[in-house]
Amino acid sequence: MQTEILRPDPKSLQKATDLLLAGEVVAIPTETVYGLAAHGLNAQAVRKIFSAKGRPSTDPLILHLPNPDLKTALATGIVAEPIPEVAYQLASAFWPGPLTLILPKGPKVPEEVTSDLPSVAVRHPAHPVAQELLSMVNAPLAAPSANRFGRISPTDAKAVDDELGGRIPMILDGGSCQTGVESTVLSLLNPEPVILRPGKITAEQLGRVLGKTPRILSAKTNTDQSMLSPGMLESHYAPATPLYLVDQSIIHFPAGFQYIQYASNEKEISPNRQVLTPVGDPETAAQNLYRVLRKADAQGAQAILIEPIPDSALAPALRDRLQRASIGTARWDGISWILKRRNEY
Ligand code: TXA
Ligand code: MG
Repeated sequence: MQTEILRPDPKSLQKATDLLLAGEVVAIPTETVYGLAAHGLNAQAVRKIFSAKGRPSTDPLILHLPNPDLKTALATGIVAEPIPEVAYQLASAFWPGPLTLILPKGPKVPEEVTSDLPSVAVRHPAHPVAQELLSMVNAPLAAPSANRFGRISPTDAKAVDDELGGRIPMILDGGSCQTGVESTVLSLLNPEPVILRPGKITAEQLGRVLGKTPRILSAKTNTDQSMLSPGMLESHYAPATPLYLVDQSIIHFPAGFQYIQYASNEKEISPNRQVLTPVGDPETAAQNLYRVLRKADAQGAQAILIEPIPDSALAPALRDRLQRASIGTARWDGISWILKRRNEY
């Protein structure tokens, strides 16, 4: 299959809309990462997402809503009661934006979207191209990140093409994604809301609306597997080159390795070194994270080492992705690097 990469304009948006209404998949920009979209109420279209990505059908998708009003989603059978009052408050505080809410599934949502779960993930994205397309299709779009299953999420059209080129008919090229990491996923199914995936909208921000800062469940800290989101596999977002988390920032990079520094404003960066943020701000680090991991991955190195992420509002999201992307830790013992795979004791 030939994959067309088009800049968004009235003609390409109409073409994308026609494809989506005809049950095809289209890769689209969102403010977080690129998504592989299909008509969210068309089971056959949704199945094409799973086959293009090689994603197991047990990993449910997010529905991107055409408008930020949860009452409309309820009236149109996308979500169902009981919807806690706080869901409406969260939607009005953070939509459009990178917050996904897990709510009871409405009767119109195909089981393919939710992997047979009684709940559904919904968000209203902020990217103008995603918004325009949603209002043209006038239906929810199911869209996971537009990468092969288990791989690094794409944050520009070129990365989508590297992942899915030849497997999908069209990529809408809306430039680089602003946020760079996937949306915060908050479950509202139980009386106590919990974060299933940290993102740009922080636990503290959510706490201001919820009245209490929600807990972040992670693959690492959570012992009750049944509480986990089905897609929250511990290994995810991973480069092909083994990635190790450096336990403290000691700049000593041996040949054959890629070393990712958190911050550096040096003009000359050696080819075996990558930098997340020249100015040291967490927003830029998040924007660059997946692009830098992809670049490091493409160098044919034996391993990638990445420095610790300093504390900031975005640190839980960045650390979560790196924890999942890595296979172990790296420590400089003063003479050489000791690489230790997780579960190798
Ligand atoms: O920022 C984002 O959220 C991007 C853009 C494209 O919107 N999408 C994204 O989708 O990251 P995906 O499929 O890569 O991740 C969706 C996450 C998965 O971890 C999945 O398990 C979880 O949301 N999820 C979906 N439905 C769920 C449900 N009913 N209950 C619990 N978790 C759910
Ligand atoms: Mg994903």
